[in-house]
Amino acid sequence: MTPEERAQLVERDKKSVWHPYTPMDEYRRSGQPLVIERASGSRLYDADGRSIIDGNASWWTSLLGHNHPRLVKALQLQSEKLCHTSLAGVTHEPAVQFAEAILAHAPPGLSHVFFSDNGSTAVEAALKMAVQYWAQHSVSTQKKTRFLSLEGAFHGDTLGVTALGGVSAFRAPFASLTMPTVHLPSPAVDMERALDALEDELKRGADSIAALVLEPLIQGAGGMLIYKDEYLIQARKMCTQYDVLLILDEVFTGYGRTGKFWACSHSGISPDIVATAKGLSGGLLPFAATLASSKIFDGFLGDASRAFYYGHTYCGNPLGARIATEVLSVYEDEQVIERSQTSVLAIEKFFKKMSQKNGVTNARSLGMCGALNLGQGEGYLERGGWKVFDLALARGAYVRPLGNVVYLTPPLNIPSEDLRSLLQIVEESVNEVLES
Ligand SMILES: Cc1ncc(COP(=O)(O)O)c(C=O)c1O
Repeated sequence: MTPEERAQLVERDKKSVWHPYTPMDEYRRSGQPLVIERASGSRLYDADGRSIIDGNASWWTSLLGHNHPRLVKALQLQSEKLCHTSLAGVTHEPAVQFAEAILAHAPPGLSHVFFSDNGSTAVEAALKMAVQYWAQHSVSTQKKTRFLSLEGAFHGDTLGVTALGGVSAFRAPFASLTMPTVHLPSPAVDMERALDALEDELKRGADSIAALVLEPLIQGAGGMLIYKDEYLIQARKMCTQYDVLLILDEVFTGYGRTGKFWACSHSGISPDIVATAKGLSGGLLPFAATLASSKIFDGFLGDASRAFYYGHTYCGNPLGARIATEVLSVYEDEQVIERSQTSVLAIEKFFKKMSQKNGVTNARSLGMCGALNLGQGEGYLERGGWKVFDLALARGAYVRPLGNVVYLTPPLNIPSEDLRSLLQIVEESVNEVLES
């Protein structure tokens, strides 16, 4: 693409495209979007011919790197046979194969796979499952329809899951419409307080609570807030004791981001329901799954009025399902998580080093995720991280921040030389901001 063609494309974009998570007024006045032409492995290539290291795995999806040849091939082959069919009263090999494969990887006790097409709908399906399950089973005199989630949580953007969100910028405009949810203190801030508050809430209100919903170990979009697995262990015990379902949202943390396939595997617990998306289809197509235990699945058996009347047009899409199965094979064949351990250590060492710098607070890491805070201001609308973003981009790395939180979530199989360059770019860019 010539510079003129690039400029024209951006001009057309500004006339017709409404970008997500983007203040459009500012964008239309001065926004200079990256124009990406192609991607491969851990690199994005823009219209100016620059090669940019993707420190974000493109919104946490391309965990096997961009355009993994086996995934592209699987997509090609499947597209020649069957691109789409409904999954209501119909089945196909890709859906069955994927369901079997993901259940073989799932935490113990999960027995059935419900398909949808993104992280929000995977959690939304989990919420509806929980509410209808209790409507058909609860012996409580009250309706079990309330949810518990964490301050700083993020579970997606559909209206249902917006209620669970603990980030005010995302929830506030819709607060008057959202369903009853208690936002509990986060264990990433104070473990003891978080556990006490959870127990109090369950003691007081379990009769009307359908489920506790958690991002296990890392609260991602809320600012990469990391907490210890003790919370999961205690939460599991309490949910069982008080007869409340435990839903884990592994949309960000699943598929090895935290160093194990599922974040909940660090604690050895099993939830009643797990939502998974993003890395599950390797960044090729929108595809998601909600895995339910046999207790939940069996709760919908019986006459037709007890069925789960829920589904999205593209749920179980054969292209997505075929890719998702291939993703799991690549994890096994290429020992993706095992081989990421050297990068995990490099990220850990890097963020420890960064924690020594004046102006950096709360540098932390877990698995293939590391983060630090710049200055004291908190919240998604802070601008500190964007200064680092601009400087890093000029040096050849894409590190989209969350307010003042600068974080790295590269592909799990990022080559060591790319990781080294990425860490160096982030260090130089953070230094420049701290010195300015
Ligand atoms: C933990 C978590 N759950 C749900 C979602 C929503 O996923 P999607 O954007 O695919 O709807 C996200 C997205 O970042 C997420 O991080």
